[in-house]
This record gives sequence, C-alpha cells and structure tokens, in this order.
Amino acid sequence: MQSLLSVSLPLTRATIKIRPISSRNRYLVIHSTKLRMDKSRHEPEREQDSLKINNIIESNPRVNKLQQLIHSDPSAYQVVGWEKSWEQGVTPWDLGQPTPVILHLLKAGALPKGRALVPGCGTGYDVVAMACPERYVVGLDISENAINKALEMSSSLPNADNFTFLKADFFSWRSTELFDLIFDYTFFCAIKPEMRLAWAQKMRDILKPGGELITLMFPVDDHVGGPPYKVSISEYEKVLHPMGFKAISIVDNEMAIGRRMGKEKIGWWKRSLSQSL
Ligand SMILES: C[S@@+](CC[C@H](N)C(=O)[O-])C[C@H]1O[C@@H](n2cnc3c(N)ncnc32)[C@H](O)[C@@H]1O
Repeated sequence: MQSLLSVSLPLTRATIKIRPISSRNRYLVIHSTKLRMDKSRHEPEREQDSLKINNIIESNPRVNKLQQLIHSDPSAYQVVGWEKSWEQGVTPWDLGQPTPVILHLLKAGALPKGRALVPGCGTGYDVVAMACPERYVVGLDISENAINKALEMSSSLPNADNFTFLKADFFSWRSTELFDLIFDYTFFCAIKPEMRLAWAQKMRDILKPGGELITLMFPVDDHVGGPPYKVSISEYEKVLHPMGFKAISIVDNEMAIGRRMGKEKIGWWKRSLSQSL
C-alpha cells in the first residue's frame, strides 16, 4: 500500500495528509483530526440507505410545515415564505449553537483571517463563533425576523465589534468590499435549484481572488422537493467550476449533528487567482 502524502496548504493553514486517489480508503487529516474522505461520488450507495434518508426529510412535520410556508409565496426567492417561517418559529434547521466542525476548524487555526461572510446566516451562531479581532464577519439574511433574532442573541457579546448582521437579499446585495472567506451552511440547499448558478456567480463576485469558500453540503441524498433541496458534489462542481473555483478538499463531515450524520460533506474551495474569467 502506498504511504500518505503530506501536503501543506498555506491558504488553509492546515497540514493535510491525504492518501493517493487510487487508494481505497482515503483519509484527510486537518490538524491531527481524521475526517473520512469521500468514498464515492454516488451516494447513498444502497437503495436501503436512500429510503431511510428520504424518510428522515419527508417525515419531519416541521420540515413539511416549512415547505408549506415557503411554497405559499410564489415571489422571487420565496422571500415572504422565509419571513413567515421565522415569524412562526418554524426553523427546523436551527442548531441553537455554532456548527461543531466550524468550532473544530477555529480551534485548529485553519480558517482564513480577514473578512468573512455567512450568507443566509439565520440566528448567526457561526458568525459570532468565527468573529475575532483578526476576522471580521458579516452575517447576511433576507429575513428581518432572523436578523433581529441574531442581534438579540449577540449584541452584548464581548466580540460584538468583530461582526455585523445585515438584512439583504444575497443575490441583489452589493458588497462594498470583497471577502477572504465565505461559509455556506444550509443556504445552497435553501434556495431554488435554478438559482444555483446565480449563487456561484455571486460567490465569485464577492470573494477575493484566491479567497476560500467552505460549503457544508447538506442534504447529500436523493429526496424529492425542498427546501431543503437535495445536493451532491457534482451539483456544486457544475456551478463552481465555470466560475473558476477549485476544490481543495471534499470530505465526509464526521462532526455532523444527529440525523445529519452521513448526509453531510465539507467542501473547501478556492477561487481562481485571476481577476477576470
Ligand atoms: C435553512 S436556513 C439556514 C440558516 C443558517 N445558515 C443555519 O444553518 O442555521 C436558510 C436561511 O437563508 C435565508 N435566505 C433565504 N433566501 C435568502 C436570500 N435570497 N438572501 C439571503 N438570505 C436568504 C433564510 O431567511 C434562512 O434564514
């Protein structure tokens, strides 16, 4: 068997050890934590797994209620539906805490410093967790209720000078500055699939050349409808590659919470260094 390759990626400030692509069990190590490498690009592998996963999404009454609210609003980006879901407290995605893998990457010092953005930030736990004197974080959400909730949760925190929350539509928002890092968790799966190319264009337009995009891909499954709409590695590649993004790594998220385990991958992408494409 071939030995591990050690690759130092200055942009992620992480030492990554990765088995050659030809190896069966591939591993990626970020600061001594082992995350299982993607075994296959066709998941779930077995029909049984697929059925189980579909049931999890479809049998959750809070997800059903969310879908009713979102589809009650035919307007662009389902703006009214998101506002209603926040108003009525129908927020089945909300973990009530920062995303564990983000805390892990922060502890490992693996996240870029500078300016970071969390689009579709919801209550903003990840915004607050990532903010520090070296990293200014912008949380953006289309819902006024979400932004008010985020402000209520965060305004008296000691690092309050290191983050801000904005109510804006990601697609029409004009940022005055570019970002070093963007973190997307359950935003890509929240928007209509036909908006995904526009999502990738916007990511390219607001990231610095060489900037990094972390996509926590969820739900990697085979269910019908949404939100959350099903995602896959190839769905991300399809829209990000033409925008000049390259994957640094894509691995299973073994720190996924509860029923998300097995349906979540961490994609780490880098925007091309050239300004124009
Ligand atoms: C599934 S929630 C995820 C919230 C948060 N990322 C989390 O993981 O807890 C999707 C969020 O995206 C927001 N959203 C939907 N469309 C948006 C848009 N066009 N621009 C900005 N935010 C949007 C919704 O209001 C909602 O808070």
